[in-house]
Amino acid sequence: MANVLLDHVAAKVEEALAALGVQGFDVREVIEIPPGRELGDYAFPCFQLARVLRKAPDRIAEELGQRIGPTELIERVEVVKAYVNIFLNRDESSRRVVEAVLARGDDYGKSDVGNGKTVVLDFSSPNIAKPFHVGHLRSTIIGHSLARIFESLGFKTVRINHLGDWGTQFGKLIVAYRRWGDRARLEAEPIRELLDLYVRFHQEAENDPSLEDEARAAFKALEDGGVEETRLWQEFRDLSLEEFERTYRRLGVHFDSYLGESAYNEAIERTVAELEAKGLLKESEGALVVELEGMPPCLIKKKDGATLYATRDLAAAVHRYETYRFDHMFYVVGAPQQLHFAQVFGVLKRMGYPWVEACEHIAFGHVRFGDEAFSTRKGNVIFLEELLDQAVARVRAIIEERNPELEEKDRVAEAVGVGAVIFNDLAHNRIKDVVFDWETALNFEGDTGPYVQYTHARAASVLRRGVEEGVAPAGAFSVGRGDLAGEEEFQLAKALAQYPDAVQRAAEEREPSEIARYLLDLCRDFNSFYHAHRIVGSPNARARLALVAAVKQVIKNGLYLLGIEAPEAM
Ligand code: ARG
Repeated sequence: MANVLLDHVAAKVEEALAALGVQGFDVREVIEIPPGRELGDYAFPCFQLARVLRKAPDRIAEELGQRIGPTELIERVEVVKAYVNIFLNRDESSRRVVEAVLARGDDYGKSDVGNGKTVVLDFSSPNIAKPFHVGHLRSTIIGHSLARIFESLGFKTVRINHLGDWGTQFGKLIVAYRRWGDRARLEAEPIRELLDLYVRFHQEAENDPSLEDEARAAFKALEDGGVEETRLWQEFRDLSLEEFERTYRRLGVHFDSYLGESAYNEAIERTVAELEAKGLLKESEGALVVELEGMPPCLIKKKDGATLYATRDLAAAVHRYETYRFDHMFYVVGAPQQLHFAQVFGVLKRMGYPWVEACEHIAFGHVRFGDEAFSTRKGNVIFLEELLDQAVARVRAIIEERNPELEEKDRVAEAVGVGAVIFNDLAHNRIKDVVFDWETALNFEGDTGPYVQYTHARAASVLRRGVEEGVAPAGAFSVGRGDLAGEEEFQLAKALAQYPDAVQRAAEEREPSEIARYLLDLCRDFNSFYHAHRIVGSPNARARLALVAAVKQVIKNGLYLLGIEAPEAM
């Protein structure tokens, strides 16, 4: 089910078109929401039909107008030049929408368009031994939301964390750990200890370049299966993963696979052999490359025989296709890797894999904290866990001030603090840079997670009052005819009807921000309604409470798709 109002209107327009002898015309593509209310709730422009029917658009509008409605839902139709303007019956529309939302509950907005199809999402994918910085946080948040969005549309989803668990940095870490490592600290806070070692290595190597050679040797030993090196590598990986998973749990994120770069050490040789067999490898200054049109060649093997990030991605893509037969594969990775993915896709294409068309780089912009961007090398890093802890602590303080009586303050603060970080990321088109400052992200009245969650809690509180005062005992809502005849109720209901469209758009454009922005609009509408009207004390209180329950449900469903919880009180 999509938009219950639009579904009806589109069906009626289609029937009228059929009467004029037109079949298979994409009515939904053409229907518009007019700029002003006096032009109706929906408008159907007839310009495109003029070509099909070889008639003036105004004439077609006239003929269509006579054949549409009125129905229970369509109150009247007005033809203005080439437009058929359609006016909906307020009461009937609002009632149908509210009933549809409440009947479907958590399933409202879901569909089965993706049934039988599989989406693989490669996201988060931090580098072990380098920190999980805010760029990875963006990938985690966007990837997690996209996974939920596609799941809600019936797709089978596979979440893959392509861990950066291989590469020369492990040589550096092994050397640094042997020299300066602290066992207890490694066990207690592995990511921090490894980062410090990584940073220290680079500092010391500036004065002592022989460290670099030592690191190269250590990595070579690791590649050759050295016992001691492998044991350390395994330990670094396991301990880091444990810590990552703790944070993932806080974000509600899980993965179906942690096959990272190290998983392809063998497959990579097959990939290189395949490239060779297909005659795609060229030698260039001792290295092996695949030449590509319109971009620099893709480096497959370095002079010293070491394989590269791109080679691993080639091997991984083939492996994933063999394993999952995906219909889409999304790489949720920052915009600076645009060229990398263009090259990987270019090579896959030259290898003759048709499924490369299903591969997409879902790029996103930088995060800036005030003026500071992030860079690993200098140790200028904000730890994800620390960021979340800080958000939660700040929210805790705000709650203490605004609502000291609140029950379960810690749980609410966790949900709102984490939600604020997530929403701040998803509120704008992903390709835009995100500026992070606490003032903005935590503003309860701004375009923020806390604002949306607060609106949800407000709706919940109105419903509780309804029960307390016996207006709608235990949520016994009912919407009778004539109960929701008001214009503002209708506008709110219409917004609820549009929720499935927002989800659909978010999927099509791979833009969770479509849902974030939809929620902000809905919350603004609801809050104006709340301030302008009595709900519990009004003559149509039961119906209004039903409307409130529907608003609450849609906010909850939308927040879920973003990866954010919806507290009942805050
Ligand atoms: N580990 C990489 C990084 O931090 C991201 C990996 C993205 N996924 C991929 N298949 N390349 O830059």
